[in-house]
Amino acid sequence: MRMKNKYRKPTSLRCNAGSRCSSSVLLWSLVGCLLMLHLYSYIRDQDVHSQESHLHIGRHPEILELEQFEEDSIQIPPPRKRSPRAAKRKPRKVHTSLIEEFLDESSQIRHIFFPDQKTAIDPMSDNGDETHFYYPGRIWLDTTGNPIQAHGGGILYDDRTKTYYWYGEFKDGPTYHAHKRAAARVDVIGVGCYSSKDLWTWKNEGIVLAAEENDETHDLHKLNVLERPKVIYNDKTGKYVMWMHIDDTNYTKASVGVAVSNFPTGPFTYLYSKRPHGFDSRDMTVFKDDDGIAYLLYSSEDNSELHVGPLSEDYLDVTETMRRILVGQHREAPAVFKHQGMYYMITSGCTSWAPNEALAHASESIMGPWETIGNPCIGGDKIFRHTTFFSQSTFVLPVHGIPGLFIFLADRWNPADLRDSRYVWLPLTLGGPVDQPFEYSFGFPLWSRVSIYWHKKWRLPFSWRGKE
Ligand SMILES: *[C@@H]1O[C@H](CO)[C@@H](O)[C@H](O)[C@H]1NC(C)=O
Repeated sequence: MRMKNKYRKPTSLRCNAGSRCSSSVLLWSLVGCLLMLHLYSYIRDQDVHSQESHLHIGRHPEILELEQFEEDSIQIPPPRKRSPRAAKRKPRKVHTSLIEEFLDESSQIRHIFFPDQKTAIDPMSDNGDETHFYYPGRIWLDTTGNPIQAHGGGILYDDRTKTYYWYGEFKDGPTYHAHKRAAARVDVIGVGCYSSKDLWTWKNEGIVLAAEENDETHDLHKLNVLERPKVIYNDKTGKYVMWMHIDDTNYTKASVGVAVSNFPTGPFTYLYSKRPHGFDSRDMTVFKDDDGIAYLLYSSEDNSELHVGPLSEDYLDVTETMRRILVGQHREAPAVFKHQGMYYMITSGCTSWAPNEALAHASESIMGPWETIGNPCIGGDKIFRHTTFFSQSTFVLPVHGIPGLFIFLADRWNPADLRDSRYVWLPLTLGGPVDQPFEYSFGFPLWSRVSIYWHKKWRLPFSWRGKE
């Protein structure tokens, strides 16, 4: 077949005049390149402008309607007294000291990070104009007036009941350290579940998977660890399947656990735990794709990389297929979502309960390779952007009916009193070129910048809130 080309007539582009012709082709290519460059920098400029104004956050009119951004600026307290020797050793950055301040129970600015009960969001009280507003970091009450206990959680939209279910760690117990060098913990109580139609008013559906009180050999024994529960619905079996991180006190078991139920509100039957594909697994998530195939993503090899692989058809196990992604990047707390056929993921660094900088990643295939495309956090103080607004990613929820609008769910951990950890919910949008150069693809990016905007208060567009 190829041989034939040799005898084909030269195309009209090729001419016999030789050098004169090729130099004009060169010239036109140059002009073309310059035009492209110009266009690219123009688009980039436009994007920078829109980022500066903080008002243009997406082309969709309903996204533009996102109301009441209030930007925050933290008043940095006077530096605390340090011994002259300590000060000499290491000059402290504002940065570090604010994270220290955040972690310090007796900090004078603690109320900024952990506003008190008086400011709690209570959807059941007469809120007047304040109705439906999210206040990231404030205490959030359920319909019975108790703080919502659904940490490290995820949300399932259940088509059958047209209801949102929020699952998370129920941590309403005392915080303690198992031994001197152990991280703060709360004994396992179980997985809490809350239901809502409007994503603001949440009814407590109880503990849908409870800890085991007595049997010390059981995965769910209270002295073990149950983190980051996520629930997906299997259309083929009609079952609700929960995946979670199961560990022992010292985080050496590093496994995933699976539970199943016929109803979104449980009770879930615990099945088993395992090391997926034979590897250690700590922070994890599951993602159900449009074609019904679900995937498990987990931090592995001592959190140095992530692994991704499809689940079996019934979602009750992994399959043999697994790919290593973000190798050597030391990321955890993965939250995956999809937009216009592209896959996106937000992760955090690994610094225990302390907040750190989030990163966004993108890929054409959920199996990778994944590109790291930069810190998605925008707005607020610089320190806010460098600490994921003093929180850690846990889930990204698509807002039904508004393409391109997502809610970023994160945990503002309170290691001094884990039950009092707060929720940081913020709008997440896609648009504009990404910040970082690509490793795996050249030329025009297939994916957009992921932007999570800081809002002191915000709510979903009115048109959406009116809908069921
Ligand atoms: C956890 O580690 C501590 C300190 O290394 C040890 O004393 C304790 O026995 C360990 N606990 C378990 C359940 O392995």
